[in-house]
Amino acid sequence: MTGGGFVANGPAGDFSGKITVPVVITCVVAASSGLIFGYDIGISGGVTTMAPFLMKFFPEVFRKASEVKTNMYCKFDSQVLTAFTSSLYIAGLASSLVASRLTAAVGRKNTIVLGGCTFLAGAAINGGAANIAMLLLGRILLGFGVGFTNQATPLYLSEVAPPKWRGAFSTGFQFFIGVGVVAANCINFGMAKHSWGWRFSLGLAVVPAAIMTTGALFISDTPSSLVERGRVEQARKSLTKVRGINSNVDAELADLLKFNEMAKDAKREPFLTIFERQYRPHLVMSIAIPFFQQLTGINIIAFYAPVIFQSIGFGSNSALIAAIVLGLVNLGSILVSTGMVDRHGRRFLFIIGGIQMFICQVAVTVVLAVSTGISGTKHISKGHGILLLVLMCIYAAGFGWSWGPLSWLVPSEIFPMKIRPTGQSINVAVNFATTFVLSQTFLSMLCHFKFGTFLFYAGWIALMTVFVVFFLPETKGIPLDSMYQVWERHWYWGRFVRGSVYVLLLVRSTSLLRILSKTGEEEVIKGSRFNCQECGRTIIN
Ligand code: BGC
Repeated sequence: MTGGGFVANGPAGDFSGKITVPVVITCVVAASSGLIFGYDIGISGGVTTMAPFLMKFFPEVFRKASEVKTNMYCKFDSQVLTAFTSSLYIAGLASSLVASRLTAAVGRKNTIVLGGCTFLAGAAINGGAANIAMLLLGRILLGFGVGFTNQATPLYLSEVAPPKWRGAFSTGFQFFIGVGVVAANCINFGMAKHSWGWRFSLGLAVVPAAIMTTGALFISDTPSSLVERGRVEQARKSLTKVRGINSNVDAELADLLKFNEMAKDAKREPFLTIFERQYRPHLVMSIAIPFFQQLTGINIIAFYAPVIFQSIGFGSNSALIAAIVLGLVNLGSILVSTGMVDRHGRRFLFIIGGIQMFICQVAVTVVLAVSTGISGTKHISKGHGILLLVLMCIYAAGFGWSWGPLSWLVPSEIFPMKIRPTGQSINVAVNFATTFVLSQTFLSMLCHFKFGTFLFYAGWIALMTVFVVFFLPETKGIPLDSMYQVWERHWYWGRFVRGSVYVLLLVRSTSLLRILSKTGEEEVIKGSRFNCQECGRTIIN
């Protein structure tokens, strides 16, 4: 049953919530787990352009890259190199699916800690890698690490943040991803000239991993997760801590208990439950949002910004500087999102960002076509190079205030408690699978379709923007357990959700009353009226 389907008048308490110092600290610490993901994204793009690294592990690629190319789009086209980069995503995909059980069984916090430790081990192995097997083993461990943290952290943030400010708090995760990317790019820049530079760049990943893991050890788990695991007193303490020592958390705790009781009622395997008709909108979003996020083309830019700039004629230094500039713009734009997401809503940002990215991708295509010529053999002029960088910056800003943070936020807030970890796992798995396929194919696409590659992404951006306009309801400010209302009211999704809620409600009304009385919220359901469409009458409890 949709969590909260029976609370006709919304949640019992006003949980719009104050922003307290502990909630800010807790969320900053949790969000810092984005650091490891971002660091890896930034590092792998840079390291794979370092000559000593290529000579040691990928001599063939190095030889090919050093040959004089007539077509500048094909300079780095290598399946082996992309397989190295994207091996992390396959490992991450597998672990994110396991993580749904883990976050349910041991909690969000412990999953974050476990992810940090695994990543730490991977970073150490990569820094000391003597052969390609060690390099791959390291990457697989890094993948396990980000699979766990990317699954658990967005859930953590959404469950701990006050609903009114949930969007702002959740953008913290993407902000830390951005910080990781920029830090990695700066380190790559400093290391590019040294023969051992790649070792330093890869090994230094232990630093963000140590920071986030240590921090995570000191935060408490989310109240929802503690209630789910039967630790009601700890949940009360955790709630009191984040909502403020003087706030009355009884109503919020009572709601959590009641939704947890209902979740327990339905003992089905969550990976099956999520396929029920009533969860169709949730399921579609948990697949479509990460899929579309990747089809904005962001990773192509993030992974290969240095490669792209180098392959279109920038020197290796200026290519790395360009990547740093892009990262900084992206970071600034995430802060804009933090300020706007709870005021103007998710849809507004998705649509604005989509239009902006679409225009930029089309413009990049045109500039590249004009400057490199149809065959891609003309040398790119300085003026055109700068124009490209400007366009990519505007594009990165568009991503930074829309699909970047919101693709982590929205899937973490739309699911009812019992299938929240499962939904989030699907989100991460689809994100990683799409990243893998796109990064595996991008360099050959670039080689074959040249500037036309960017038009491919422009087409997808247009499609996803239309999807948001028609199918994504606004979720700002709605408490997690009342989220069912947004689907019920939606012009399209309503038909999937409505009927099932009311029929189940009819069947279960006695036990619901019992649950509500236990938590002292009896009046919420007494006298509630429901328009039961399937049974053709109004039910008054
Ligand atoms: C995406 C990553 C991307 C990163 C860029 C994240 O939200 O999931 O794939 O590399 O943003 O900053």
